[in-house]
Amino acid sequence: MRIFITGASGHIGSAVIPELLDAGHQVVGLARSNESAATVAAAGAEVRRGDLDDLDNLRDAVAAADGVIHLAFKHEAMRAGDFAAAITADLRAIETIGAALAGTGKPFVGTSGTLTLAFAGLTRVSTEADAPDVGPRVDAEKAVAALADRGVRSAVVRLPPTVHSSLDRHGFIPTLIATARDKGVAAYVGDGNNRWPAGHTLDAAQLYRLALEKAPAGARLHAVDDEGVPFREIAEAIGRHLDVPVISIPPEQADAHFGYLGSLVSLDNPTSSARTRELLTWKPTHPGLIADLDQGHYFNAP
Ligand SMILES: NC(=O)c1ccc[n+]([C@@H]2O[C@H](COP(=O)([O-])OP(=O)(O)OC[C@H]3O[C@@H](n4cnc5c(N)ncnc54)[C@H](OP(=O)(O)O)[C@@H]3O)[C@@H](O)[C@H]2O)c1
Repeated sequence: MRIFITGASGHIGSAVIPELLDAGHQVVGLARSNESAATVAAAGAEVRRGDLDDLDNLRDAVAAADGVIHLAFKHEAMRAGDFAAAITADLRAIETIGAALAGTGKPFVGTSGTLTLAFAGLTRVSTEADAPDVGPRVDAEKAVAALADRGVRSAVVRLPPTVHSSLDRHGFIPTLIATARDKGVAAYVGDGNNRWPAGHTLDAAQLYRLALEKAPAGARLHAVDDEGVPFREIAEAIGRHLDVPVISIPPEQADAHFGYLGSLVSLDNPTSSARTRELLTWKPTHPGLIADLDQGHYFNAP
């Protein structure tokens, strides 16, 4: 298939491109700058220049493809505190992609996050069947899933907050490591028993390919290997590698200490991927989060 990918130059996109090429697909990647175009071309994909906000360009690129994977997200806006702008742009892109694919039966794989389930207040282990009504990225999830009723074989991949590997340069783990370097301590909130699910980038990339190739329309999928790693263990691994003390901080200090991650670090988000594994015969094979941290690659950067 000829697959169009937004976010092709990013962390996950850079793993999805070779995964698709190795499986015999052709890949066209959206790139908004010369640097991103060079990254996409170096990965072996054809480059489609354009910004996520150029909806005419997006529509044309989708119309020329046999399937679409949507990974682009305005993280710059999110880090600057304007999450709403990132969400709005994401939704507009999904609607444009969906309209261009409606009635074709072609596959469209969208992206969400498992933290959405924690924001919805779920306290038990979340599953793919959980579909909250409100929360960050819920509207995007719903928009992708609803395309199943408009003749699109759509599916949503929920990524855990820590998609980790040596390809991860500016995700939550590098941010936590930078914070620990900056503050001279690796912190967790309260008793640190709250859990974050995790998955390896290469396993996630394989899941995107499988979703594209065979997910049933409307599926919600979890790219989760570790069901829930206690946040204290993440802090302990960071402290061990940076040789800084590991400390507990009270919830009211989380925003000041962790910046834009302040509202996330105490979320408890245990998440199952049993249904995803069964549905797509997906089996993660790469190291779990703590084993990957202990390989040391995250700590080599200055
Ligand atoms: N990585 C994780 O742990 C994680 C966890 C949960 C959810 N997710 C979600 O998974 C998706 C992919 O994440 P990622 O880690 O691969 O992110 P990333 O490394 O930050 O990559 C983001 C991609 O979006 C592109 N992009 C941003 N703004 C754009 C715009 N205005 N026009 C066109 N392209 C634009 C970037 O292009 P440039 O190269 O030009 O910047 C880049 O290719 C996102 O939706 C993210 O929120 C990721």
